[in-house]
Amino acid sequence: MKRDLQPADDIELLVDTFYGKVHNNDFWGGIFNEAPQEEWPVHLNKMYNFWHTVLLDDPLYFENPFLPHVDLPNGKHYFDHWLTLFHSILDQLFEGEKTKETKRQVNRMTEMFHHTIMAFPKNNKTTWR
Ligand code: HEM
Repeated sequence: MKRDLQPADDIELLVDTFYGKVHNNDFWGGIFNEAPQEEWPVHLNKMYNFWHTVLLDDPLYFENPFLPHVDLPNGKHYFDHWLTLFHSILDQLFEGEKTKETKRQVNRMTEMFHHTIMAFPKNNKTTWR
């Protein structure tokens, strides 16, 4: 029997499980491996702060999350794949009302991400940081 998501306690588990799957993944190819591996803890920390901000409505992430995505592959099927993976991680770990609510929230957020990123001009080459 799985338990429900408790964002205050589960953000690290959720983020670590998600990014564990995107690394060395056939679909994503090198996208998530391009950053030097020693930078990865910095990235993970950002993601903890980002998801803390989103799921607990308590701001810890103050950067622009869109710019680093502008020059990555960002066709709709990439976002669909990203979302399917995120849902599957939630299902693998949790079940319950909060889990369902989080899926709806992530659906909305992914759609908003996609629309916002598509509206940026291309070639805003950003660095890993
Ligand atoms: C096509 C789907 C996606 C791909 C391939 C992708 C890939 C990546 C990569 C490679 C980075 C590191 C970029 C860098 O710093 O150079 C990143 C950062 C990030 N991603 Fe995504 N991502 C996707 C969708 C999303 C979605 C839907 C969200 C939010 C719901 C999200 C949230 C973030 C955030 C917050 C960062 C950190 C940005 C920063 O450096 O401040 N990503 N993503």
